[in-house]
Amino acid sequence: MEHSILIALPKGRLFESALGLLDRASICPDGMENGSRKLTFPDKTGKYAFVALKPVDIPVYVESGVVDVGMVGSDILREQEPDVFEPLDLRIGLCRVALAGPAGQDISSASTLHVATKYPRTAERHCAARHVHAHIVKLEGSVEIAPLLGLADVIVDLVETGRTLRENGLTIIEEIASVSTKLIVNRTVMKTKAFEMQELLANLDRVVYANT
Ligand code: PRP
Repeated sequence: MEHSILIALPKGRLFESALGLLDRASICPDGMENGSRKLTFPDKTGKYAFVALKPVDIPVYVESGVVDVGMVGSDILREQEPDVFEPLDLRIGLCRVALAGPAGQDISSASTLHVATKYPRTAERHCAARHVHAHIVKLEGSVEIAPLLGLADVIVDLVETGRTLRENGLTIIEEIASVSTKLIVNRTVMKTKAFEMQELLANLDRVVYANT
């Protein structure tokens, strides 16, 4: 693409807040709506172009340099540990990664703890740090159903309002990390498009920290 900076936006629950942030920075993707099936968009100034990607795929695009910049949750960065630059916390999509299970579950008493999760490395590391022997069951969604159906003892998943846990009879046992959305940048792009990147970062920084 000929545009100066290609930015990956996360489809799904973060999408509207990501667009809101860009809008406050006077960066306007043209024709980009959450329901749209189109995946690439210009902006009106021609300085930027956008792609809408599944959040979990964004680090690989940015690390490879196919995409210059991405917006992605720290839960995904913690899990994947991509080699990218993380210059700015965007302060949207705030939530937590937590280990949760039925009330009263004692995780240290099980000889092997069965853990259902979309975050196998995060879950594995957390259990290892707690000296708990874990068997990880990798799922792609609706993780909260796993203890209910007997597939796992506990889960490691995102908790935002806590409603999904509550409605499935689960409670937080341990918080693992707080989550926020980060701006990630390809390491080479920080040098090859230094001027354009500084302009974008200064613009977003001003918007994110406007009321603090
Ligand atoms: C996320 C997460 C939890 C839920 C937490 O799932 O995995 O299931 O949201 O939100 P809450 O605390 O506000 O209830 P998402 O909606 O992204 O769908 P998924 O289960 O298919 O991953």
